[in-house]
Amino acid sequence: MKKILALVLALALVLSLCSFASAEGAKKKVGISMPTQSLERWNRDGTYLKEQFEAAGYDAILTYSDNKNDQQVNDIDNMLSDGVDLLIVSAIDGEGLNTCMDSAAEKGVPVLSYDRLIINDASKYYVSFDNYTVGKLQGQYVETALDLANAGDKTFNIEFTAGDPADNNAGYFFNGAFDVLKPYIDAGTLKVVSGQTEFQAVATAQWSTDTALARAQNILASYYADGTQLDAWLCSNDSTAAGVAQAIESDYAGTNAVVVTGQDGDIANLANIVDGKQTMTVYKNVANEAVVTLAVAKAILEGEVNGEELVKTFDVPCAFDTTSYFTSEGNFANSFLLVPSVITADNLQELVDIGLYQWDADQKYLLAK
Ligand code: BGC
Repeated sequence: MKKILALVLALALVLSLCSFASAEGAKKKVGISMPTQSLERWNRDGTYLKEQFEAAGYDAILTYSDNKNDQQVNDIDNMLSDGVDLLIVSAIDGEGLNTCMDSAAEKGVPVLSYDRLIINDASKYYVSFDNYTVGKLQGQYVETALDLANAGDKTFNIEFTAGDPADNNAGYFFNGAFDVLKPYIDAGTLKVVSGQTEFQAVATAQWSTDTALARAQNILASYYADGTQLDAWLCSNDSTAAGVAQAIESDYAGTNAVVVTGQDGDIANLANIVDGKQTMTVYKNVANEAVVTLAVAKAILEGEVNGEELVKTFDVPCAFDTTSYFTSEGNFANSFLLVPSVITADNLQELVDIGLYQWDADQKYLLAK
């Protein structure tokens, strides 16, 4: 009888500990602040993140701020008032969140910059892809597609479209691509007919498709209407590539296929790749980005982040980096950087194989899964 009683008591203790643990887990609340629903990828990021955190027993608040910095400030302030234990933020303006970062620091709420770095020391952790490599892959794609290394006396014409200057990533993408292509520009093999090679001149506020479209139409009308051949248009991502591809379709006088780069694997752009209007996209598996974010968040909430060790536990390649992304002069974020890859018309099946896309009924275009 005593033994049974002891067993029952032990069982009751285990059960109460379990429910205590889960109640504790359930009490932790994360605030997830995404920039906008108007650009396709953030819908996927928001969904994956929320799902991941909820499945792991956290409460998750998810907001989208319509690409407006003021709204994001407001959304984050509300989350802080709501008592979140951790903030996960993809900043609309990397330098526009200082007041929220001060409040977070005052409240002792850790901040993880998601995909886009917040330039503030309160954000000590950063999960993203290797952004410089994203640009490098785009530049290398153009280099190979035009066979620039063996061009001899041949010359090619190129234009550039970069991202939003408020987004810390945009400069990394542009520099990665430009560094690969600059030697060919210097040698005269590549010519930027518009003369627009500075980041600020080729940048696209809010990564807007319409803005990229209007600028591309303008360039085509001003520099290519006389039949000058355009060989490549380096675009930093898919939303800008969509505008450029549209301009080439409607306003370019030539008939050659223009190499157009992108980034993200947005559904409309994958269709453009099938149709030959865009040539490649740099793919970043945002489901993996969410998984890594959860692991880093857990470590932060448990009070110990050993980045070197943590990356070894991931199923996907991820570098731990403490020297590339600064939050203020001399201070660097603890960065977890995943590895991007190149998708073209030849390897679209890879996106199906990773389980995030599916073929349509005609097996021609990809759809989201
Ligand atoms: C992201 C890209 C995205 C762009 C526009 C960047 O910060 O890294 O994946 O294309 O924002 O949404």
